[in-house]
Amino acid sequence: MLEKTHKILYSRERIASEIKRIGQEITRDFQGQEVMLVGVLKGSFLFIADLVREIELPTVIDFVRLASYGSGTQTSGIIEFRKELEMPIRDRNVIIVEDIVDSGYTLECLYNKLLHHQPKSLKICTLIDKTARREVEIEADYVGITMDDGFIIGYGLDHDERYRNLPDIHVVEDA
Ligand code: IMP
Ligand code: MG
Repeated sequence: MLEKTHKILYSRERIASEIKRIGQEITRDFQGQEVMLVGVLKGSFLFIADLVREIELPTVIDFVRLASYGSGTQTSGIIEFRKELEMPIRDRNVIIVEDIVDSGYTLECLYNKLLHHQPKSLKICTLIDKTARREVEIEADYVGITMDDGFIIGYGLDHDERYRNLPDIHVVEDA
């Protein structure tokens, strides 16, 4: 396995404080209602675990698993559903929870698919909004950190399935 050179870009403390803020925003926006978080596997597994504990509302959780074809650090734009939702979303306040939005193809595909099932409301929450390579017009309602470009790993984010367990987010220097 080729070890990548990387350095910390966003610390665990920064991540925790942004998640606390998003949790407060969601709590305020949906006061008196229940929310349904839909985590996009695998990258969002740590984010959703921390976020759900910052939301002071009745909450249910489900997951989808999407994969975009292509290798390395580029998205192809062809999205495959590998795991569907298990709970109905009709008339629920659904919040999609993503690790990172890059080209936007993954989210656009999921957003349109979920919209079709008539949720009461449909919002997008992403820990990282990477703006430089956006190809579709899609905007997250809740954003942790906005960055321009670069390939990042850690806190759920992988490079060829590795590094998801790093507690901080690192930038890969030779991506
Ligand atoms: P999009 O469809 O191009 O927006 O790609 C989104 C998906 O690509 C994310 O859910 C990640 O799985 C992956 N991705 C995009 N940028 C990065 C990155 O910098 N590090 C790790 N994964 C990334
Ligand atoms: Mg992802």
